[in-house]
Amino acid sequence: MAQAPARSEPVVRRWLVTGASRGIGHAIAALACERGDKVCLVGRSADIADVAQELGENAIGIAADVTRREDMVRLASDIGARWGGIDVLVNNAGLHRGGTIDRFSDEDWEATLATNLSGPMRMIRALVPLMPPGSAVVNVGAVVGFRGFPGDSCYGASKAGLHGLTQVLAAELARKQVRVNMVVPGFVMTEMTSTISERASKAIVNRIPLQRMGRPEEIADVCWWVAGSTYMTGSVVFTDGGLMCNL
Ligand SMILES: NC(=O)c1ccc[n+]([C@@H]2O[C@H](COP(=O)([O-])OP(=O)(O)OC[C@H]3O[C@@H](n4cnc5c(N)ncnc54)[C@H](OP(=O)(O)O)[C@@H]3O)[C@@H](O)[C@H]2O)c1
Repeated sequence: MAQAPARSEPVVRRWLVTGASRGIGHAIAALACERGDKVCLVGRSADIADVAQELGENAIGIAADVTRREDMVRLASDIGARWGGIDVLVNNAGLHRGGTIDRFSDEDWEATLATNLSGPMRMIRALVPLMPPGSAVVNVGAVVGFRGFPGDSCYGASKAGLHGLTQVLAAELARKQVRVNMVVPGFVMTEMTSTISERASKAIVNRIPLQRMGRPEEIADVCWWVAGSTYMTGSVVFTDGGLMCNL
């Protein structure tokens, strides 16, 4: 029987958070820095270095696009050279494209899957060799990956796929003592949701038992404890104000 590993969580963990330029990813990076860990923020723009600088000396920013295989290789080599490894990988970068089946384009489908599903797969593949036993992957899912929302084929399919990837890799990477879990935000105030009409927002909030949208900091807090939960892998943690109970 496998023994529970001695608590391998280092005093200062090294995080890599994708999609950390704003929204939920930025809140996750800020919280980890605030609590004393080191964080590498990843986003597509070169401004990510300035965003990181604002979080203090525990943060660095590396520009990379999760849809580009060569960026992942460069990122892994860069972070390996700087820090020697990563203890927490948060696959948070995400893209939403809506449209009913007769409306969305092949490009919408491909771009969404490339960012939300192939991106995390490539990140994990590139970074697992740098992750010591006791490390954690946190994938950021979506309620739409578990329930049918009309007009959300691209996004829903990408996040459902990410759930499948989470389960398979939880089983596969357990032998390396790397845990893989999914945190599922409900309806959160970020740029991604800022273009939703007031009417549509109200309709969603009406379905949320807690009767409000979530804040990025509330999702960050859950990612923090999921990353540190030593006997949790393959789990899905909803942080959605109860939305899933009401669908
Ligand atoms: N907001 C919600 O209600 C909600 C609900 C459920 C799940 N989620 C999930 O939560 C995650 C964060 O969403 P959010 O609401 O914070 O969205 P957001 O405000 O639109 O931020 C998205 C982040 O992803 C980055 N990004 C997008 N494409 C990228 C790529 N190809 N490579 C690298 N980075 C990329 C963006 O950075 P740059 O543009 O600077 O590259 C940005 O930092 C996503 O996975 C989303 O699906 C959000």
